[in-house]
Amino acid sequence: MSFNTSSRATIFMFSFLVLVISSLIASCAGNFYQDFDVTFGDGRAKILDNGNLLTLSLDKASGSGFKSRNEYLFGKIDMQLKLVPGNSAGTVTAYYLTSLGSTHDEIDFEFLGNLSGDPYILHTNVFAQGKGNKEQQFHLWFDPTKDFHTYSILWNPQSIIFSVDDTPIRYFKNSESIGVPFPNNQPMRIYSSLWNADDWATRGGLVKTDWSQAPFTASYRNFTTQACIWSSGGSSCTSTNSSDNAWLTQGLDTTSQERISWAQKNYMIYNYCTDTKRFPQGLPPECLLN
Ligand SMILES: *[C@@H]1O[C@H](CO)[C@@H](O)[C@H](O)[C@H]1NC(C)=O
Ligand SMILES: *[C@@H]1O[C@H](CO)[C@@H](O)[C@H](O)[C@H]1NC(C)=O
Ligand SMILES: *[C@@H]1O[C@H](CO)[C@@H](O)[C@H](O)[C@H]1NC(C)=O
Repeated sequence: MSFNTSSRATIFMFSFLVLVISSLIASCAGNFYQDFDVTFGDGRAKILDNGNLLTLSLDKASGSGFKSRNEYLFGKIDMQLKLVPGNSAGTVTAYYLTSLGSTHDEIDFEFLGNLSGDPYILHTNVFAQGKGNKEQQFHLWFDPTKDFHTYSILWNPQSIIFSVDDTPIRYFKNSESIGVPFPNNQPMRIYSSLWNADDWATRGGLVKTDWSQAPFTASYRNFTTQACIWSSGGSSCTSTNSSDNAWLTQGLDTTSQERISWAQKNYMIYNYCTDTKRFPQGLPPECLLN
């Protein structure tokens, strides 16, 4: 971690210390009533089962969405999702962290629907200081519409690890030392939405949403975090479970390295780091770090 005199960095260091020495233990298992607000959809987002289940739906008139009440500055954030079944072509279920604004940081999962029997695409991206262009896409090794599966973001000062059912699929290392911005000083909220993107999503917009199948529904449950919650005053961060801060320094151990190689070898379908056509002037610097 580099020290400089900007107030943001000072606030960040302060929060980091508060986080590390904090002794407050708060609950980390989620309840949708307590942890989230519906952002749009006029009744199409529903919280059910005493707050244990949330569903988003999309019809021709509107999609729907929700966001977390808390803002987080680092954390291990798990959510189980069951995606729109059947002919979901044209629909996109986005699940991401963002700080909003023109210099926003963002960590994205986006699930691009498909015709019945054709695979979903899991699209990932990372933005820092408003700049993204770091896409990696995957197929999944199961049907994500048949059951709930866990999608996790482990975000700490060293790296961001995207995982599916505890199998890491993407590792984005902090490369600030070679001048690549990394999301580490803007607190982010969790957002999710289900919307129509048939102008681009399925085969570049060739396949249109079949509205006779509407409403389309995606479901969420078992939201859990070990994270640093940013206070509304904006000066400190409190761990949701300070007795177990292993996530703050967690990287890829040997088993995770084997798993991620397996996932990328068999299921990665796009990697910006190998897209030489897109970057004729040379691949982005973090790609050359191996
Ligand atoms: C905090 O973490 C410890 C160790 O992993 C665990 O035993 C405990 O149940 C956790 N507490 C909460 C409130 O989640
Ligand atoms: C949909 O399925 C087709 C055929 O397998 C595949 O080429 C495409 O990548 C899939 N996903 C999307 C979002 O189009
Ligand atoms: C809920 O999520 C936690 C953390 O990801 C996991 O350990 C637990 O098995 C999940 N519970 C269910 C019912 O899937």
